[in-house]
Amino acid sequence: MVLPSTLYHVVATLFLALTLSETSNAQLNATFYANSCPNVSTIVRNVIQQSLQSDSRIGASLIRLHFHDCFVNGCDASILLDNSGSIQSEKDAAPNNNSTRGFNVVDNIKTSVENACPGVVSCADILALAAESSVSLAGGPSWNVLLGRRDSLTANQGGANTSIPSPVEGLANITAKFSAVGLNTNDLVALSGAHTFGRAQCRTFINRLYNFSNTGSPDPTLNSSYLITLQQTCPQNGSGTTLSNLDPTTADGFDNNYFTNLQNNQGLLQSDQELFSTSGSATISIVNSFSSNQTAFFQSFVQSIINMGNISPLTGSNGEIRLDCKKVNGS
Ligand code: HEM
Repeated sequence: MVLPSTLYHVVATLFLALTLSETSNAQLNATFYANSCPNVSTIVRNVIQQSLQSDSRIGASLIRLHFHDCFVNGCDASILLDNSGSIQSEKDAAPNNNSTRGFNVVDNIKTSVENACPGVVSCADILALAAESSVSLAGGPSWNVLLGRRDSLTANQGGANTSIPSPVEGLANITAKFSAVGLNTNDLVALSGAHTFGRAQCRTFINRLYNFSNTGSPDPTLNSSYLITLQQTCPQNGSGTTLSNLDPTTADGFDNNYFTNLQNNQGLLQSDQELFSTSGSATISIVNSFSSNQTAFFQSFVQSIINMGNISPLTGSNGEIRLDCKKVNGS
Protein backbone atom coordinates (compact mmCIF):
# COMPACT_ATOMS: atom_id res chain seq x y z
CA MET A 1 0.00 0.00 0.00
CA VAL A 2 1.30 3.47 -0.86
CA LEU A 3 0.68 6.04 1.88
CA PRO A 4 -0.18 9.61 0.89
CA SER A 5 2.89 11.72 1.64
CA THR A 6 1.38 13.76 4.55
CA LEU A 7 0.22 10.60 6.28
CA TYR A 8 3.63 9.09 5.63
CA HIS A 9 5.27 12.04 7.38
CA VAL A 10 2.94 11.80 10.35
CA VAL A 11 3.69 8.10 10.74
CA ALA A 12 7.44 8.66 10.33
CA THR A 13 7.46 11.50 12.89
CA LEU A 14 5.49 9.46 15.40
CA PHE A 15 7.87 6.55 14.95
CA LEU A 16 10.88 8.81 15.48
CA ALA A 17 9.33 10.38 18.58
CA LEU A 18 8.58 6.96 20.07
CA THR A 19 12.09 5.72 19.33
CA LEU A 20 13.66 8.81 20.87
CA SER A 21 11.52 8.61 23.98
CA GLU A 22 12.61 5.05 24.59
CA THR A 23 16.30 5.61 24.08
CA SER A 24 17.12 9.02 25.56
CA ASN A 25 16.18 11.57 28.18
CA ALA A 26 14.65 13.78 25.52
CA GLN A 27 11.36 13.60 27.36
CA LEU A 28 12.49 15.76 30.31
CA ASN A 29 11.88 19.37 29.43
CA ALA A 30 11.83 22.80 31.03
CA THR A 31 8.16 23.50 30.27
CA PHE A 32 6.69 20.23 31.53
CA TYR A 33 4.43 22.00 34.09
CA ALA A 34 3.88 25.19 32.06
CA ASN A 35 0.13 24.52 31.87
CA SER A 36 -0.47 22.14 34.77
CA CYS A 37 1.51 24.00 37.47
CA PRO A 38 2.98 27.22 36.06
CA ASN A 39 4.18 28.60 39.43
CA VAL A 40 5.90 25.46 40.72
CA SER A 41 9.42 26.96 40.63
CA THR A 42 8.34 30.03 42.59
CA ILE A 43 6.51 27.91 45.16
CA VAL A 44 9.58 25.74 45.72
CA ARG A 45 11.84 28.77 45.92
CA ASN A 46 9.61 30.57 48.44
CA VAL A 47 9.52 27.64 50.85
CA ILE A 48 13.31 27.33 50.71
CA GLN A 49 13.79 31.07 51.18
CA GLN A 50 11.57 30.88 54.26
CA SER A 51 13.45 27.87 55.64
CA LEU A 52 16.81 29.58 55.13
CA GLN A 53 15.75 32.25 57.66
CA SER A 54 16.05 29.75 60.50
CA ASP A 55 18.47 27.23 58.92
CA SER A 56 21.29 28.68 56.82
CA ARG A 57 22.37 25.16 55.90
CA ILE A 58 19.11 23.92 54.41
CA GLY A 59 19.96 24.67 50.76
CA ALA A 60 23.10 22.57 51.02
CA SER A 61 21.15 19.74 52.62
CA LEU A 62 18.54 19.81 49.84
CA ILE A 63 20.96 19.67 46.91
CA ARG A 64 22.66 16.74 48.59
CA LEU A 65 19.30 14.91 48.64
CA HIS A 66 19.03 15.35 44.85
CA PHE A 67 22.56 13.89 44.47
CA HIS A 68 21.88 10.91 46.74
CA ASP A 69 18.56 10.35 44.96
CA CYS A 70 19.99 10.39 41.44
CA PHE A 71 22.90 8.02 42.18
CA VAL A 72 20.53 5.25 43.32
CA ASN A 73 18.14 3.94 40.64
CA GLY A 74 18.15 7.37 38.97
CA CYS A 75 16.37 10.58 39.97
CA ASP A 76 13.11 9.02 41.13
CA ALA A 77 12.68 10.29 44.72
CA SER A 78 13.51 6.79 46.02
CA ILE A 79 15.53 8.44 48.81
CA LEU A 80 12.39 10.03 50.25
CA LEU A 81 10.51 6.78 51.00
CA ASP A 82 10.23 5.80 54.65
CA ASN A 83 10.48 2.23 55.89
CA SER A 84 7.30 0.22 55.47
CA GLY A 85 6.27 -3.40 55.05
CA SER A 86 7.73 -3.56 51.56
CA ILE A 87 10.28 -0.71 51.67
CA GLN A 88 13.75 -0.79 53.20
CA SER A 89 14.44 2.91 53.30
CA GLU A 90 17.53 4.41 51.66
CA LYS A 91 17.51 6.84 54.59
CA ASP A 92 18.96 4.01 56.70
CA ALA A 93 21.83 3.27 54.28
CA ALA A 94 25.29 4.19 55.60
CA PRO A 95 25.84 7.33 53.46
CA ASN A 96 22.46 8.74 54.56
CA ASN A 97 21.91 7.55 58.11
CA ASN A 98 22.27 10.41 60.63
CA SER A 99 23.59 12.52 57.79
CA THR A 100 21.06 13.46 55.09
CA ARG A 101 18.59 16.07 56.26
CA GLY A 102 15.91 18.40 54.93
CA PHE A 103 13.14 15.80 54.58
CA ASN A 104 10.71 18.02 56.53
CA VAL A 105 11.37 20.91 54.17
CA VAL A 106 10.73 18.62 51.19
CA ASP A 107 7.40 17.75 52.81
CA ASN A 108 6.60 21.45 53.31
CA ILE A 109 7.40 22.14 49.66
CA LYS A 110 5.23 19.21 48.59
CA THR A 111 2.32 20.49 50.69
CA SER A 112 2.55 23.96 49.13
CA VAL A 113 2.82 22.51 45.64
CA GLU A 114 -0.14 20.14 46.23
CA ASN A 115 -2.24 23.08 47.44
CA ALA A 116 -1.63 24.88 44.15
CA CYS A 117 -1.63 21.91 41.74
CA PRO A 118 -2.94 18.69 43.30
CA GLY A 119 -1.51 15.41 42.04
CA VAL A 120 0.64 16.95 39.34
CA VAL A 121 4.26 17.54 40.40
CA SER A 122 6.52 14.61 41.27
CA CYS A 123 8.72 14.49 44.36
CA ALA A 124 11.69 13.75 42.09
CA ASP A 125 11.09 17.03 40.23
CA ILE A 126 10.72 18.85 43.56
CA LEU A 127 14.24 17.69 44.49
CA ALA A 128 15.61 18.92 41.14
CA LEU A 129 13.86 22.29 41.54
CA ALA A 130 15.02 22.56 45.17
CA ALA A 131 18.62 22.03 44.06
CA GLU A 132 18.37 24.92 41.61
CA SER A 133 16.73 27.29 44.11
CA SER A 134 19.26 26.37 46.79
CA VAL A 135 22.20 27.19 44.53
CA SER A 136 20.79 30.42 43.15
CA LEU A 137 19.62 31.67 46.57
CA ALA A 138 23.18 31.12 47.85
CA GLY A 139 24.65 33.34 45.13
CA GLY A 140 25.36 30.65 42.56
CA PRO A 141 24.04 30.29 39.01
CA SER A 142 20.40 29.78 38.05
CA TRP A 143 19.27 27.48 35.26
CA ASN A 144 16.18 26.07 33.60
CA VAL A 145 15.46 22.80 35.39
CA LEU A 146 14.44 19.93 33.13
CA LEU A 147 11.23 18.36 34.42
CA GLY A 148 8.89 15.44 33.89
CA ARG A 149 10.38 12.85 36.23
CA ARG A 150 8.01 10.50 38.03
CA ASP A 151 8.36 8.86 41.45
CA SER A 152 9.48 5.33 42.17
CA LEU A 153 7.41 2.60 43.72
CA THR A 154 10.46 1.15 45.47
CA ALA A 155 13.65 2.04 47.29
CA ASN A 156 17.08 0.44 47.00
CA GLN A 157 18.92 0.50 50.33
CA GLY A 158 21.65 -1.85 49.10
CA GLY A 159 22.16 0.37 46.06
CA ALA A 160 22.53 3.42 48.30
CA ASN A 161 25.25 1.60 50.27
CA THR A 162 27.22 0.68 47.16
CA SER A 163 26.59 3.50 44.64
CA ILE A 164 27.04 6.68 46.69
CA PRO A 165 30.73 7.68 46.96
CA SER A 166 32.44 7.64 50.34
CA PRO A 167 34.86 10.43 51.32
CA VAL A 168 37.60 7.90 52.14
CA GLU A 169 37.48 5.48 49.22
CA GLY A 170 39.97 7.18 46.91
CA LEU A 171 39.71 9.15 43.69
CA ALA A 172 39.82 6.12 41.37
CA ASN A 173 36.80 4.49 43.04
CA ILE A 174 34.86 7.74 43.17
CA THR A 175 35.56 8.35 39.49
CA ALA A 176 34.29 4.84 38.77
CA LYS A 177 31.07 5.49 40.69
CA PHE A 178 30.45 8.64 38.67
CA SER A 179 31.24 6.80 35.47
CA ALA A 180 28.75 4.07 36.42
CA VAL A 181 25.95 6.64 36.20
CA GLY A 182 27.29 8.24 33.03
CA LEU A 183 29.16 11.18 34.60
CA ASN A 184 32.74 12.02 33.63
CA THR A 185 35.74 13.61 35.34
CA ASN A 186 34.59 17.11 34.49
CA ASP A 187 31.22 16.35 36.11
CA LEU A 188 32.99 14.96 39.18
CA VAL A 189 35.06 18.11 39.71
CA ALA A 190 32.24 20.53 38.90
CA LEU A 191 29.70 18.75 41.13
CA SER A 192 32.21 18.41 43.98
CA GLY A 193 32.09 22.22 43.88
CA ALA A 194 28.75 21.86 45.72
CA HIS A 195 30.99 21.49 48.78
CA THR A 196 31.25 25.28 48.57
CA PHE A 197 28.47 25.29 51.15
CA GLY A 198 27.09 23.08 53.91
CA ARG A 199 28.66 21.13 56.75
CA ALA A 200 30.37 17.83 57.43
CA GLN A 201 30.59 15.87 60.68
CA CYS A 202 33.96 15.18 62.29
CA ARG A 203 33.48 11.45 61.73
CA THR A 204 33.67 11.99 57.94
CA PHE A 205 37.19 13.49 57.97
CA ILE A 206 38.79 12.63 61.35
CA ASN A 207 40.79 9.90 59.58
CA ARG A 208 42.95 12.75 58.23
CA LEU A 209 43.66 14.55 61.50
CA TYR A 210 45.73 12.23 63.72
CA ASN A 211 46.60 8.91 62.16
CA PHE A 212 46.17 9.08 58.41
CA SER A 213 46.37 5.65 56.74
CA ASN A 214 48.12 4.23 59.83
CA THR A 215 51.09 6.59 59.45
CA GLY A 216 50.72 7.92 62.99
CA SER A 217 50.62 11.42 61.46
CA PRO A 218 47.99 13.70 59.90
CA ASP A 219 47.29 13.73 56.16
CA PRO A 220 50.33 15.53 54.67
CA THR A 221 48.04 17.29 52.17
CA LEU A 222 46.33 19.24 55.00
CA ASN A 223 47.39 22.87 55.40
CA SER A 224 49.09 23.06 58.83
CA SER A 225 47.06 25.92 60.33
CA TYR A 226 43.82 24.45 58.93
CA LEU A 227 44.86 21.15 60.56
CA ILE A 228 45.15 22.84 63.96
CA THR A 229 41.71 24.43 63.56
CA LEU A 230 40.19 21.09 62.59
CA GLN A 231 41.90 19.29 65.48
CA GLN A 232 40.36 21.84 67.85
CA THR A 233 36.92 21.26 66.32
CA CYS A 234 37.35 17.48 66.30
CA PRO A 235 39.48 16.33 69.26
CA GLN A 236 40.51 12.68 69.46
CA ASN A 237 37.79 10.78 71.32
CA GLY A 238 35.48 13.79 70.91
CA SER A 239 32.02 13.67 69.38
CA GLY A 240 31.97 12.40 65.81
CA THR A 241 28.88 14.47 65.07
CA THR A 242 30.37 17.93 65.63
CA LEU A 243 30.04 20.00 62.45
CA SER A 244 32.62 21.84 60.41
CA ASN A 245 32.03 24.06 57.37
CA LEU A 246 32.91 22.34 54.10
CA ASP A 247 34.16 25.71 52.82
CA PRO A 248 36.21 27.46 55.54
CA THR A 249 36.28 30.77 53.62
CA THR A 250 32.63 31.46 52.64
CA ALA A 251 30.61 28.86 54.53
CA ASP A 252 27.11 29.49 53.14
CA GLY A 253 27.84 31.14 49.80
CA PHE A 254 27.91 29.34 46.47
CA ASP A 255 31.14 30.48 44.79
CA ASN A 256 34.43 29.08 43.46
CA ASN A 257 36.35 29.44 46.74
CA TYR A 258 36.08 25.67 47.18
CA PHE A 259 38.63 25.28 44.38
CA THR A 260 40.98 27.92 45.78
CA ASN A 261 40.76 26.10 49.11
CA LEU A 262 41.93 22.91 47.39
CA GLN A 263 44.92 24.76 45.92
CA ASN A 264 45.72 25.94 49.49
CA ASN A 265 45.43 22.42 50.94
CA GLN A 266 42.21 23.41 52.66
CA GLY A 267 39.87 20.78 51.29
CA LEU A 268 37.90 19.34 54.21
CA LEU A 269 37.20 15.80 53.03
CA GLN A 270 39.88 13.46 51.74
CA SER A 271 37.78 13.15 48.56
CA ASP A 272 37.87 16.94 48.12
CA GLN A 273 41.64 17.34 48.52
CA GLU A 274 42.42 14.36 46.30
CA LEU A 275 40.96 16.23 43.31
CA PHE A 276 43.96 18.58 43.51
CA SER A 277 46.59 16.53 45.34
CA THR A 278 46.57 13.25 43.38
CA SER A 279 49.67 13.62 41.25
CA GLY A 280 49.11 13.20 37.55
CA SER A 281 45.34 13.30 37.87
CA ALA A 282 43.23 14.90 35.12
CA THR A 283 41.24 16.60 37.88
CA ILE A 284 44.08 19.03 38.77
CA SER A 285 43.83 21.25 35.72
CA ILE A 286 40.03 21.36 36.08
CA VAL A 287 40.40 22.54 39.70
CA ASN A 288 42.86 25.20 38.53
CA SER A 289 40.54 26.41 35.82
CA PHE A 290 37.51 26.66 38.15
CA SER A 291 39.63 28.41 40.78
CA SER A 292 40.78 31.09 38.36
CA ASN A 293 37.43 31.55 36.61
CA GLN A 294 34.14 31.48 38.55
CA THR A 295 32.13 31.85 35.34
CA ALA A 296 33.73 28.69 33.95
CA PHE A 297 32.85 26.88 37.19
CA PHE A 298 29.24 28.08 37.12
CA GLN A 299 28.80 27.08 33.48
CA SER A 300 30.24 23.62 34.07
CA PHE A 301 28.27 23.19 37.28
CA VAL A 302 24.99 23.92 35.50
CA GLN A 303 25.77 21.49 32.69
CA SER A 304 26.86 18.79 35.14
CA ILE A 305 23.89 19.10 37.47
CA ILE A 306 21.62 18.83 34.42
CA ASN A 307 23.58 15.71 33.44
CA MET A 308 23.09 14.35 36.97
CA GLY A 309 19.37 15.18 36.85
CA ASN A 310 19.05 13.16 33.65
CA ILE A 311 20.15 9.89 35.27
CA SER A 312 17.50 7.25 34.45
CA PRO A 313 14.32 9.21 35.14
CA LEU A 314 10.97 7.44 35.26
CA THR A 315 8.75 9.07 32.64
CA GLY A 316 5.55 8.57 30.72
CA SER A 317 3.40 6.07 32.58
CA ASN A 318 6.26 4.57 34.62
CA GLY A 319 6.18 5.14 38.38
CA GLU A 320 3.64 7.58 39.78
CA ILE A 321 3.14 11.10 41.12
CA ARG A 322 3.35 10.48 44.85
CA LEU A 323 0.88 12.47 46.94
CA ASP A 324 3.10 12.16 50.02
CA CYS A 325 6.81 12.03 49.22
CA LYS A 326 7.43 9.62 52.15
CA LYS A 327 5.22 6.82 50.86
CA VAL A 328 3.96 5.08 47.77
CA ASN A 329 0.35 6.01 46.89
CA GLY A 330 -2.25 3.76 48.48
CA SER A 331 0.15 2.32 51.08
C1 HEM B 1 32.39 13.32 44.90
C2 HEM B 1 31.94 12.54 45.83
C3 HEM B 1 31.31 13.04 47.09
C4 HEM B 1 31.58 12.61 48.35
C5 HEM B 1 32.58 11.54 48.74
C6 HEM B 1 30.76 13.39 49.24
C7 HEM B 1 30.75 13.22 50.61
C8 HEM B 1 30.10 14.06 51.48
C9 HEM B 1 30.16 13.95 52.91
C10 HEM B 1 30.91 12.88 53.68
C11 HEM B 1 29.45 14.98 53.42
C12 HEM B 1 29.23 15.29 54.92
C13 HEM B 1 28.06 14.47 55.43
C14 HEM B 1 27.93 14.51 56.93
O1 HEM B 1 28.89 14.83 57.61
O2 HEM B 1 26.83 14.18 57.44
C15 HEM B 1 28.92 15.74 52.33
C16 HEM B 1 28.15 16.85 52.46
C17 HEM B 1 27.61 17.55 51.40
N1 HEM B 1 27.66 17.15 50.08
FE1 HEM B 1 28.87 15.77 49.28
N2 HEM B 1 30.03 14.26 48.52
C18 HEM B 1 30.31 14.08 47.20
C19 HEM B 1 29.71 14.74 46.14
C20 HEM B 1 28.71 15.66 46.26
C21 HEM B 1 27.88 16.13 45.18
C22 HEM B 1 27.99 15.64 43.74
C23 HEM B 1 27.02 17.05 45.70
C24 HEM B 1 25.95 17.84 45.03
C25 HEM B 1 25.95 18.15 43.76
C26 HEM B 1 27.32 17.16 47.11
C27 HEM B 1 26.73 18.03 47.98
C28 HEM B 1 26.99 18.08 49.34
C29 HEM B 1 26.52 19.14 50.21
C30 HEM B 1 25.83 20.41 49.76
C31 HEM B 1 26.89 18.78 51.51
C32 HEM B 1 26.55 19.53 52.80
C33 HEM B 1 25.18 19.05 53.26
C34 HEM B 1 24.66 19.66 54.54
O3 HEM B 1 25.22 20.61 55.08
O4 HEM B 1 23.61 19.15 55.03
N3 HEM B 1 28.31 16.27 47.42
N4 HEM B 1 29.32 15.16 51.17
